[in-house]
Amino acid sequence: MLWFALSRNERKTLVMQIEEELRNRIFSGQLSADEQLPSSRELAKSLGVSRNTVNEAYEQLLLEGYIYRIARSGTYVSKGLSFQKEQGSILGEKMVTNVETKKDVIDFKASQPAIDYFPKHAWANVYKQVCLAADDHVFGYQTAYGNMDLRAAIANYLGRLRGVNADPNQIFITTGATQALSLLTRLLASEGDVVCVEDPVTEEMRRIFLEAGAVLQPIHTDEHGMDPANLPQSSKPRFVFTIPSHQFPLGAIMPVKRRIQLVEYARKMNTYIIEDDYDSEFIYEGTPVQAMQSLDGERVIYIGTFSKILSPSLRIGYMVLPYHLVKRAEQQKWFTDRHSSSLEQMALAAFINEGSFEKHIRKMKKLYARRRKVLVEAINDTFRSCDIIGQAAGMHLVVRFKDRDEINQKNLAENKVKAVVVEDFSLRKGFHKNELILGYGHLNEMEIKEGVIRLKKALQ
Ligand SMILES: Cc1ncc(COP(=O)(O)O)c(C=O)c1O
Repeated sequence: MLWFALSRNERKTLVMQIEEELRNRIFSGQLSADEQLPSSRELAKSLGVSRNTVNEAYEQLLLEGYIYRIARSGTYVSKGLSFQKEQGSILGEKMVTNVETKKDVIDFKASQPAIDYFPKHAWANVYKQVCLAADDHVFGYQTAYGNMDLRAAIANYLGRLRGVNADPNQIFITTGATQALSLLTRLLASEGDVVCVEDPVTEEMRRIFLEAGAVLQPIHTDEHGMDPANLPQSSKPRFVFTIPSHQFPLGAIMPVKRRIQLVEYARKMNTYIIEDDYDSEFIYEGTPVQAMQSLDGERVIYIGTFSKILSPSLRIGYMVLPYHLVKRAEQQKWFTDRHSSSLEQMALAAFINEGSFEKHIRKMKKLYARRRKVLVEAINDTFRSCDIIGQAAGMHLVVRFKDRDEINQKNLAENKVKAVVVEDFSLRKGFHKNELILGYGHLNEMEIKEGVIRLKKALQ
């Protein structure tokens, strides 16, 4: 008699559960080749299900070749199916640990927006309107450049708020800043070509360039950002990657003199500057410095993203390209993933045009400014000998603990607090061992204060 447990609460139907159990038993050899299976009537009785349910499962297994039938005799297990299934692949394990969040750990992870503040209602309204009003052609393939309404809305926004000179035809929608950087690396560099990057730079950014085939040359970064004096003079890099509005992670704003030097370098060497402007909306002191792209739209390629302002899950970013690169970028994007999701782009265009986007920025700016203030106060009240480095901007800050040479990650883990040491993001080692990156965008005030208490314990 064949019997196994079935669950009526599972998301899988009874038919699927029977199929799965029989497949597993066939693979494992518990049901061996040419072994006769019970009739559908017998199995239905044993499992307490209808005969139709078992028949449906048998039909599917027959179709897939797991079993065969002999007329007027019965149903049998096919030959040669004993097979060892891998238990928990390496990839599977990795994915589980990636999504796992340890609830009782306070994680000062950088660049994490407050996703619980996503404007669900405004977004849902605009998305529904756009979807219902969309012409049929919207549901087919579109151009690789992206939706024209969104490109026009971005051009207008960038012109007003970032000083970027761009006609909508130069704006290219991508699947986040990540894809923009990946496409650009493949567009501008061949396998093995050198690209210059600010040092420190996140592991993620580094990997984007490396995966696209480039070789990295680190350029030292100080309290004013990347120093152009350190750029190579004898051979040209394919591009120079910089985050001048708020260097990540050190938070420097690059002064205009260095920006001019960088543009002059790009002109002299006939190369490009890639300007990542990923969180420039959130400046809490003074006024935002205009984007470098405004100095030279032929040499500076500007990259922006909606991941920090709205949500990383939207996967919408963009680049502002010199005209001569637009067509080539179109080819790269088309053969990578055709284009980014059209409805999301149309909804975003409507969201910007109706004013909801800038309203959301204002709200988030207040929230992050408040969180930053709480963090700064907690640090100053708790630690005697430290500096807070970088501009009051973005969603993270860096603390330099002057009274210690390095920070022991093990001590942080033991006290249930997590934060990355700047040294981990450094290509040239030895300069940032006593500096911690503290992201506060996603943490509420209580968590921030508790996190600092734990840091204190960890660093005692
Ligand atoms: C420096 C920097 N630029 C850009 C991004 C945004 O990437 P994306 O737009 O692909 O989400 C990130 C993400 O954390 C980042 O750290």
